[in-house]
Amino acid sequence: MNTREPDGLLYENLANHIAGLIDRGGFRSGDRLPSLRKTCVQHGDSTATAMQAYVTLENRGLIEARPKSGFFVRSRWSDTAPEPCLTAPCCKVRTIKSRSLIGQVFEAAGRSDIIPLGAACPSAEVLPAEKLSRMLRAVDRQNARRAIMYDPPPGCEPLRRQIAKRSMEGGENLQPDEIITTVGCMEALNLSLRAVAAPGDIIAIESPTYFGVIESIRELGMRVVEIPMHPRDGMDLEALELALGRHKIAACFCTPSFNNPLGSCMPDKNRQRLVAMLAKRQIPLIEDDIYGDLHHGIVRPRTAKSYDREGLVMLCSSFTKTLAPGFRVGWVAPGRFFDRVLNLKFTNTVATATLPQLAIAEFLQNGGYDRYLRGVRVFYGEQIQRFSEAIAHSFPTKTTISRPTGGFVLWVGLPKGCDALALHEAALARNISITPGPLFSATPAYRNFIRITCAHPWSREIERAIVVLGELAKQQLG
Ligand SMILES: Cc1ncc(COP(=O)(O)O)c(C=O)c1O
Repeated sequence: MNTREPDGLLYENLANHIAGLIDRGGFRSGDRLPSLRKTCVQHGDSTATAMQAYVTLENRGLIEARPKSGFFVRSRWSDTAPEPCLTAPCCKVRTIKSRSLIGQVFEAAGRSDIIPLGAACPSAEVLPAEKLSRMLRAVDRQNARRAIMYDPPPGCEPLRRQIAKRSMEGGENLQPDEIITTVGCMEALNLSLRAVAAPGDIIAIESPTYFGVIESIRELGMRVVEIPMHPRDGMDLEALELALGRHKIAACFCTPSFNNPLGSCMPDKNRQRLVAMLAKRQIPLIEDDIYGDLHHGIVRPRTAKSYDREGLVMLCSSFTKTLAPGFRVGWVAPGRFFDRVLNLKFTNTVATATLPQLAIAEFLQNGGYDRYLRGVRVFYGEQIQRFSEAIAHSFPTKTTISRPTGGFVLWVGLPKGCDALALHEAALARNISITPGPLFSATPAYRNFIRITCAHPWSREIERAIVVLGELAKQQLG
């Protein structure tokens, strides 16, 4: 007897019924589904309805057609591609070597003929480009004289007011006069490092971590000690404790919300512990919160700064990942190091460009920023799912994939024997950009890891690019 619900299109009802069976384990990964004819007989539907239902399930990524064999339940990516393990502990102090590869990765990001899976840059298709452009013109018209003048540090007051207002969501309750606007998050990080450490000093960083910060530390003549990461919970605090006991660490750099490239999210109790551990030794924490607004779940994670009672946490962020990478608007709340950062900001770039700050302030106040964020969070969550499934499907067995709960990048571990640098070269020759793992460490680690950006809307071209990457990786394994 047909027990399916009577509402909706017949093929959708049938597709939902079969999807439910797959979900409850009635059909398992690799199982062959009944033939179309058998399905018609069983459910009393026409062949066209059964066919349409199977196509729907195929589009949802639940089943696949195999030539001359029929339809099969696709292996779930979570079954085939486990998470990466805790990254290898490496508590040695290192001087960082220059890495020319970063230039190559950036150059590829600017090429229009490339499938952009390399740079962690949002897609112009997803950003609110038209609205921001309208606002830019409107604030320019209304503030023509102000907009062409310097906006001296601490920077645009209306913007700092909006950032302070929003800081309640991260639990910090900042005041506008605690914030300094910067040229992107990179300047915020750079000024923070210079405010609290000098050449030769040791900075504790996550491993893997954003390569820009490694470069910044190198350029400043500082050294690093890399702290291993738990793929979901972020920095391993036991390892940090050990490093703090062994070395004289000048500052700690951490991305508690959605480390780039892992996407890990530190639990609240760890954030609290991290702040307390460092406060006990009076070590500043440079917190990078650039992905904090891009959580896939409902609740925004609290910042480590929200647990700071001593002004030791320097909270850095920007609107690069959410609104406009090209506007170069970021900010820092440097706590007790405010005056030092203010002075460094002046000597570094004098001021942040006025007009983009005004436009972003206007967007935050009247542009529906929260509504926009709600939309992109769902979008990025779905993109991560979709890319993960495709990677698990096309990449060699034993590939591992991170499980980010925010942001839009995946950290993919290839089986031993694969070489990320060679893969990067081979992929570029096929007009596909990726970011090779070794960039994310000052050590020779992550040779078989790559970062894949999932920010660009899924398309046939991206689907093909993932298949090509999988083939190239398999070729490396012989
Ligand atoms: C973790 C992290 N921090 C900082 C930055 C630099 O941000 P901005 O472009 O705002 O300077 C990036 C950019 O990719 C990043 O991923």
